[in-house]
Amino acid sequence: MTTYPLHKLGLRIPIHCRVNGEPQVLLVKPWQTLLEALRDELGLTGTKEGCGNGNCGCCTVLMNGKTVTSCLVLAPEAEGADIVTVEGLAQGNRLDPLQKAFMEYGALQCGFCTPGFLMSAKYLLQKIPNPTEHDVRLGIAGNLCRCTGYDKIVRAILAVARGEVKA
Ligand code: FES
Ligand code: FES
Repeated sequence: MTTYPLHKLGLRIPIHCRVNGEPQVLLVKPWQTLLEALRDELGLTGTKEGCGNGNCGCCTVLMNGKTVTSCLVLAPEAEGADIVTVEGLAQGNRLDPLQKAFMEYGALQCGFCTPGFLMSAKYLLQKIPNPTEHDVRLGIAGNLCRCTGYDKIVRAILAVARGEVKA
């Protein structure tokens, strides 16, 4: 029997999941990452590819309530999953308090790392509503920023935790 490599057949697999609250059927190649599926199939380009190998955190999204680096998740693994990307943080025109705080505290410069930081911070505050500075620094330890020096990011997240920034 002759077998053909899947990539030569151009095979795509239907993946059923929820993205930012909306049911989606993604037609993905078996070797595509969740990051590629979100950006290329759904056009959700807020999630960024920095390193592509799990080191920078730019591609962080929530999958079933927990942070994952979407460059390390194969798209077929998202079958049945609930995914939240940075596009899912704002409610209509109302920014999430974390988004507002990042702007108010100047917690971004080029902004490339920001979606990943926001998703890690979102998860952190869900898990630990009143974090210490140490908790915050630990919570964002998987995210790299080449511009800000991290202090403003930490201050922005702590301000949201203290309720000082409203949506
Ligand atoms: S792009 Fe995924 S961790 Fe860097
Ligand atoms: S703001 Fe530029 S890498 Fe973080």
